[in-house]
Amino acid sequence: MPARILDGKALADTMQAETAAGVAELVARGGPKPGLATVLVGEDPASHVYVRNKRRACERVGMTSVHHELPATTSQAELLALINRLNADPSVHGILVQLPLPPQIDERAVIQSVSPLKDVDAFHPETVGLLAAGHPRFRPCTPHGIQQLLVRNNVPIAGAHVVIVGRSNIVGKPLALMLMQKGPGGDATVTIAHSRSRDLGALTRQADIVVAAVGRPILITADMVRPGAAVVDVGMNRLPDGRLVGDVDYAAVAQIAGAITPVPGGVGPMTITMLLHNTFHAACPAR
Ligand code: GUN
Repeated sequence: MPARILDGKALADTMQAETAAGVAELVARGGPKPGLATVLVGEDPASHVYVRNKRRACERVGMTSVHHELPATTSQAELLALINRLNADPSVHGILVQLPLPPQIDERAVIQSVSPLKDVDAFHPETVGLLAAGHPRFRPCTPHGIQQLLVRNNVPIAGAHVVIVGRSNIVGKPLALMLMQKGPGGDATVTIAHSRSRDLGALTRQADIVVAAVGRPILITADMVRPGAAVVDVGMNRLPDGRLVGDVDYAAVAQIAGAITPVPGGVGPMTITMLLHNTFHAACPAR
């Protein structure tokens, strides 16, 4: 039986409507209109598309989006000066510096310069530390989106064996922390595999849930998935013919998996949705 589709676009629409309602209520109570500042340095075409989508989503849910576009030649000092101004601006509740940055700029220094109270990307070491300690302030957007996609589609996480392929700071590492955490949406047994793992298929075949987050087309083939397992595809790979594909051999894996996320329309829309969620919470005075 073909797999159930975990429809990220549909869930994103539902959750963005929830955030829009929250924003409307906050403003009606006399609270601030949540504001996201986006910062884009350089000409990377994919980054321009990502930031445009994030800004449009902000406006759809009734938030303010203020965009700063800087040339590829921008110095680190200039970028840090802008972030300092945004840190001090009370109309800005969330700051998003789109990565990657040009080579003359130290990504770590930039991440650390964002106020942890406005760190809606959840990349700052303080944010990461709070998550690791089990007291998250902001949850990172892609892992949080994946967790919501599983929870709200009733894919059991507690007690499940989740094999995450990919150990990035943006997806693999924080997702492992979130799914192993005690409580709702957690309590999984988590394995992280990566490019140096021996016999990747032997690991993924043990999984109740496989998460592919490497950035390589057809990394996960049908023989690597246990029949009935849930498969989450975080990959976004542009093929030479222009097609956008994930890391999973979708057509073949969808024949044996129990549930699967499509690309596009799976994890991608959920990432933006959780960014809006974080920006809304950054603006809530109770925090
Ligand atoms: N570049 C690729 N993914 C992301 C993301 O989630 N946030 C930011 N700021 N940059 C990215």
